[in-house]
Amino acid sequence: MLQVKNLSFSVGPARKRSTILNNLSLKIKPSEFVVITGPNGSGKSTLAKLIMGLEKATDGQIIFNQQNITDKDITERARLGIAFAFQQPPHFKGVTVKDLLQISATGHETFLEDTETDYKKLIETVGLDESYLEREVNNTLSGGELKRIEIASAIARNAQLTVFDEPEAGIDIWSFEKLVQIFKKFRNKAPERALIVISHQQRLIRQADRIVVLRNGQIALEGQPDDILPQLQEENV
Ligand SMILES: Nc1ncnc2c1ncn2[C@@H]1O[C@H](COP(=O)(O)OP(=O)(O)O)[C@@H](O)[C@H]1O
Ligand SMILES: [Mg+2]
Repeated sequence: MLQVKNLSFSVGPARKRSTILNNLSLKIKPSEFVVITGPNGSGKSTLAKLIMGLEKATDGQIIFNQQNITDKDITERARLGIAFAFQQPPHFKGVTVKDLLQISATGHETFLEDTETDYKKLIETVGLDESYLEREVNNTLSGGELKRIEIASAIARNAQLTVFDEPEAGIDIWSFEKLVQIFKKFRNKAPERALIVISHQQRLIRQADRIVVLRNGQIALEGQPDDILPQLQEENV
């Protein structure tokens, strides 16, 4: 479904060039749930942004469903079926939570059917009550609330491939177990969909089909949770 081929991303002027991703290759199969982990600054968010088209690769290719999307912008990639939930979600002034969910669910196949009930269910799934549907997506929402709303809108999008960047960040009071349940539910409802989750949380990592560990912009380790988790614990990543 997704193939990242020899991807590199460098920034800065020629003399002080800093390489953030270095010749990274990765394949994601349909219905696969892949967790990307690794130390802060290892390039996880950069990789997510390159997949989504928010940053442009210095080198390499991104193939999605046999199509080369390397030069396609974020809108085009979203249309093709890639969704992204930001590590730090943006505000949308004048847009209510319900508007946001509606916009997210529009224009493609979705499992939100009977809208009123489904929007209520969806917002409750991420641990917020229905009063939030009328709230504006602005700075009156706490970081954790914004994060949950972002997760709900990514779920509403029901894309072929969804990338969640550290969904656990800012989720304090809300039980982390719920987030794991959401991912399980998301998989059950749309089993042919693929999921990339960037996370440091053991409980989430454990659910993955495959774990990819980034270090210094490269894949340091890759494999199934049973093989990778003990190594991660040893190294305290
Ligand atoms: N556009 C950019 N310009 C300069 N440095 C960047 C840019 N994007 C990312 N970086 C740097 O690249 C490194 C990797 O960042 P990031 O992908 O956000 O890491 P992670 O998500 O794994 O914590 C960090 O040191 C960050 O400061
Ligand atoms: Mg990050």
